[in-house]
Amino acid sequence: MTSSIYEHLLIEHQDDGISILTINRPDKLNALNHALLDELDRAVEEFDKSENASVLIITGAGEKAFVAGADIKELSSLTGAEGEKLSARGQAIFNRIENASKPVIALINGYALGGGAELAMACHIRIATENALIGLPEVSLGIIPGYGGTQRLTKLVGKSKALELILTGNPVKADEALQIQLVNHVRQADEAMELALTLAKKMMQNGPVALSKAIQAVHAAYSSNGFAKEAVLFGQLCETDDFREGTSAFLEKRKAEFKGK
Ligand code: COA
Repeated sequence: MTSSIYEHLLIEHQDDGISILTINRPDKLNALNHALLDELDRAVEEFDKSENASVLIITGAGEKAFVAGADIKELSSLTGAEGEKLSARGQAIFNRIENASKPVIALINGYALGGGAELAMACHIRIATENALIGLPEVSLGIIPGYGGTQRLTKLVGKSKALELILTGNPVKADEALQIQLVNHVRQADEAMELALTLAKKMMQNGPVALSKAIQAVHAAYSSNGFAKEAVLFGQLCETDDFREGTSAFLEKRKAEFKGK
């Protein structure tokens, strides 16, 4: 087994062709800052091009979180133009995952909020541990999901449930996530990786070209261009007082007081 070195990611390339990518920023609950996003992009590109890696499993370091979202500290100072650019950048990285030529499995081992839920939704299969909590709480910060969440949640769970979750910002526990088909499986924490490895090995018995084309074919059933709209709206929200108030309130550990401006 060999492993590549990143600042915020741990990557294990197993001899059997399975790679395990661990988002490794546990002191911030693996929140996605700019540097981490860049590394994630590079790691996924390397996986996709690798002749030795056949399936990628993505999980989070520590016992609390898969990924607790985009880094709110970085978000809090975004201008509208920067927000739109960041949204498009996040979308591009997560699109790379969704369009990978080989299967990518998310092992959601705790909080998967905001960008964390969006990352998991970009993967082809989702396995949640029993303590997982999955949601898109962006409106509580005065923004909307900007890394593809408005599009992918709607496709995965349908319009009415997606609107309920996005407009309330309420997260769902693992059992409800399974019931609404947001995740494929729920397992105890110590059994989830075993299931991910079992599914990976089963997929690897099949023709690699067929897997690649199957991923493309299934996505063709869901193609739409709402992503561009999401990025524009995300950028517009970064100009609002409500967004400044929402992110400041989180960083100052107090309740936000929105004025609707
Ligand atoms: N961005 C930046 N920092 C984050 C973060 C995020 N999305 N989520 C958590 N952190 C940081 C906290 O600020 C804290 O840092 P500190 O120790 O320097 O104060 C650390 O991670 C631990 O988080 P904390 O809030 O103390 O843990 P908790 O167990 O009390 O609460 C959550 C866990 C997930 C409920 C809470 O961290 C949270 O609500 N996070 C934001 C979720 C969110 O809105 N995500 C969408 C972003 S678009």
